[in-house]
Amino acid sequence: MLRCAVKKFAYFATLLTIVANIYIYTYPSFHPEQCSWNCSTKNTTLRGDLTLLEKVKEYFNDIQEQWHASHASDSDDVHIMAFGDPQIKGNWPKTPYVSRLDTYGNDYYLGHIYDMMQQRLKPQVVTVMGDLFSSQWIGDSEFHNRTKRYISRIFKRDPAFIERVKIENIDEEGQYKANWSKWGDRFNEILSTVQQNDTANEDSLFGFGYENIQSWNPDLEDFLFINITGNHDVGYSGDATYQHMTRFHDLFGKDNYWIEYETNTTHPWRIVVLNDLLLEGPALQPEFVDATWIFLKQLNERKFNGSTVLLTHVPFYKREGLCYDGPDTRYYPDVDAPESYKTGLLRSQNHLGESVSNEVLNLIFENGKPGIILTGHDHEGCETVYNKRSPLTWEATKDIESNIFVKEITVKSMMGEFNGNTGLVTGHFNTDTMTWDWTFSLCPFAIQHVWWFAKVSLLVAIFTWSSLLFV
Ligand SMILES: *[C@@H]1O[C@H](CO)[C@@H](O)[C@H](O)[C@H]1NC(C)=O
Ligand SMILES: *[C@@H]1O[C@H](CO)[C@@H](O)[C@H](O)[C@H]1NC(C)=O
Repeated sequence: MLRCAVKKFAYFATLLTIVANIYIYTYPSFHPEQCSWNCSTKNTTLRGDLTLLEKVKEYFNDIQEQWHASHASDSDDVHIMAFGDPQIKGNWPKTPYVSRLDTYGNDYYLGHIYDMMQQRLKPQVVTVMGDLFSSQWIGDSEFHNRTKRYISRIFKRDPAFIERVKIENIDEEGQYKANWSKWGDRFNEILSTVQQNDTANEDSLFGFGYENIQSWNPDLEDFLFINITGNHDVGYSGDATYQHMTRFHDLFGKDNYWIEYETNTTHPWRIVVLNDLLLEGPALQPEFVDATWIFLKQLNERKFNGSTVLLTHVPFYKREGLCYDGPDTRYYPDVDAPESYKTGLLRSQNHLGESVSNEVLNLIFENGKPGIILTGHDHEGCETVYNKRSPLTWEATKDIESNIFVKEITVKSMMGEFNGNTGLVTGHFNTDTMTWDWTFSLCPFAIQHVWWFAKVSLLVAIFTWSSLLFV
């Protein structure tokens, strides 16, 4: 009797396991169009409501395509994969076991999304849109530990480099400690040299500029991995300290730079990485804000004549109602010690300020060529258009309303509660108009429980089958 019931349950658990695992390992095939690069050669017919049968057919076609795909991209299109705000959490001595397990599983959930999408689409650029971690109030050792999880569990990168950084910056307890006085001395030395000389060609000092970089480490990988600063990584300008900046530079690289591609062709384009948390004040360390503006001026001096992909964290100014977040800027109130030194400083912002937005758009998109801005921050995602209205002002709208415009995509978060999204940007050079066209699509996965279910049901099935040996 019991044996029979257990056996039935084992079959049932096996069936569920198979279904759940097929789902999580083929999920992009359920949304083949959203989960592929925009294909300019394919005739995309208008897809009204597909019948169930058509959907099933589409699913199997996509799986078949994946099976046979050579993956070698034969087009000259640019393919960028963007992940919004992973915000990975940490554990404290009092964190309950259930939350610890949740945090542990969440790393692998995010890693699953990355693996699936990376293998399916072989991007040229992978970028994480800031808020890599959930808090700017963590110590250096915890910052290093989370970077290690980010590297090994989520993005499968070589951890040797961060271990080296740790060995070079170790405290008495054997933990990583950011050497901020050394970093700060060097930063201030460069800043004052650049400010005294006041020449445009000092970008070599800060090392802002690159050209034709396909990978930071071509021996290991054939794509470019870009980290963006978020308010939870370095803080808003009222929070950002030398310690924040040092450890970000140590473990994630520079916060401001540009990479120019195909400069001497008919179709130049560039990537601009901007730390837009440090554009406005009042700042705790106003010199950081100075450095960001120096970066923007040097970038503008390039008089680059191609198209720009801007990667940054906080979205540009827009009126209430266009996106989930409306404008909201807060300052630290007048409080008693120990935080009184922050009184009046910038505490948080949903968007950049209106005049700062105009200035930045003017400096980066001065040449009037179409471009695209990718941001993070609001988790819900949004698409807007910045239309050039007069020589110096831009206005955000839902649709294109001007000849000169730039699209802004706020990439929906990759966190489970937002369904584990991947943003896909395709850049296609249109030889009829001689401009780059940038398109975006969002590929959703599923809430984290679905992933958990697939893993747990497998354990249950194995356990039930093995228990049959004993009943
Ligand atoms: C970081 O990880 C190391 C090694 O596992 C551990 O000794 C240390 O306590 C961790 N740091 C924090 C703040 O938990
Ligand atoms: C971004 O961070 C990862 C993890 O530390 C690192 O492997 C990668 O090289 C960084 N990217 C840049 C541009 O420094």
